[in-house]
Amino acid sequence: MRAIVNTSEGAGIAVVDDPRPGRNEALVAVRAFSLNRGELALLEARTEQWRPGQDVAGVVVEAAADGSGPVAGSRVVALVEQSGWAELAAVPTDRLAVLPDEVGVEQAAALPLAGLTALRTLRLGGGDLLGRRVLVTGASGAVGGTQVQLAIAAGAEVTAVTATPHHQDLLRRGAAVVDDPATAGGLYTLVADWVGGASVAAALDKVAPHGTLVLGSGSAVKTPINIYDFFGHEGARIVGYLSYAHPEPPGPDLATLARLVAAGRLDPVLGLVTSWTRLHDAITALAQRRLTGKAVLTVG
Ligand SMILES: NC(=O)c1ccc[n+]([C@@H]2O[C@H](COP(=O)([O-])OP(=O)(O)OC[C@H]3O[C@@H](n4cnc5c(N)ncnc54)[C@H](OP(=O)(O)O)[C@@H]3O)[C@@H](O)[C@H]2O)c1
Repeated sequence: MRAIVNTSEGAGIAVVDDPRPGRNEALVAVRAFSLNRGELALLEARTEQWRPGQDVAGVVVEAAADGSGPVAGSRVVALVEQSGWAELAAVPTDRLAVLPDEVGVEQAAALPLAGLTALRTLRLGGGDLLGRRVLVTGASGAVGGTQVQLAIAAGAEVTAVTATPHHQDLLRRGAAVVDDPATAGGLYTLVADWVGGASVAAALDKVAPHGTLVLGSGSAVKTPINIYDFFGHEGARIVGYLSYAHPEPPGPDLATLARLVAAGRLDPVLGLVTSWTRLHDAITALAQRRLTGKAVLTVG
């Protein structure tokens, strides 16, 4: 089969051995995959024939030998740890979900890491979000944009922080929009920061007493915070979220995300859909922050 292989010369399509699925793994013909910002750093760091790729959607060509998971022919979305940017991927059945007919593979490929991160960190807000105030930074991004939509779907009163001038989309979806967290009015039960750096301190300043600030950005910029920053935010907690350490397998939450898309309550924003032969262009567009929404690449 063909797969993306990363070397010191960059990432490109190469012929590799077909995957050999374990007993709990389905063999999936990948039809589309998406890029995540964190993968840009991994591509820089792992140049020794590394096989990237976490977010995939496609069709099961061989069901898992242990009888778990969907039958051959099922359309699925999955979060794998690596090697997903390929014609075939071996996927543990608890890491995939069957797609409803209404959800296309390009839409589905946009969901896994960004959608799961958005969904799971919303839950750190402590349960029912109906009527709660939620503030999301980096709201034009893949995670932030998804989270704004999910929070609105959950009945929250959502303020989106975005430095991107084209925020009509966020307004149309029902969010209040500001371009700086400092200008967001009042305090919020849940604040999720996907920008990092100075945004963290500004975000902490918006957390309600006993509320939650989620730190999720992969930014390397550090922010000094001390106890005096909690005056007016007494009892607030800061939770660092690292998706790889999430205790539950992705399958059930992927099914939830796919169901929300099918129901028209979640609409993944696709900034670019192109062939995987244009991988380099997609990586460059993501790295140069020229995209609003996900870069999705189709295979075959
Ligand atoms: N902790 C985890 O488990 C986890 C999982 C997934 C992703 N992440 C991290 O979360 C962050 C968001 O991921 P993503 O996939 O949503 O990335 P993305 O699509 O690139 O979105 C990031 C957004 O942050 C804002 N932003 C931050 N720094 C910026 C800069 N220097 N220049 C311009 N805009 C900047 C922009 O939004 P506005 O224009 O709207 O301000 C941008 O759209 C990344 O740092 C990623 O590595 C963490």
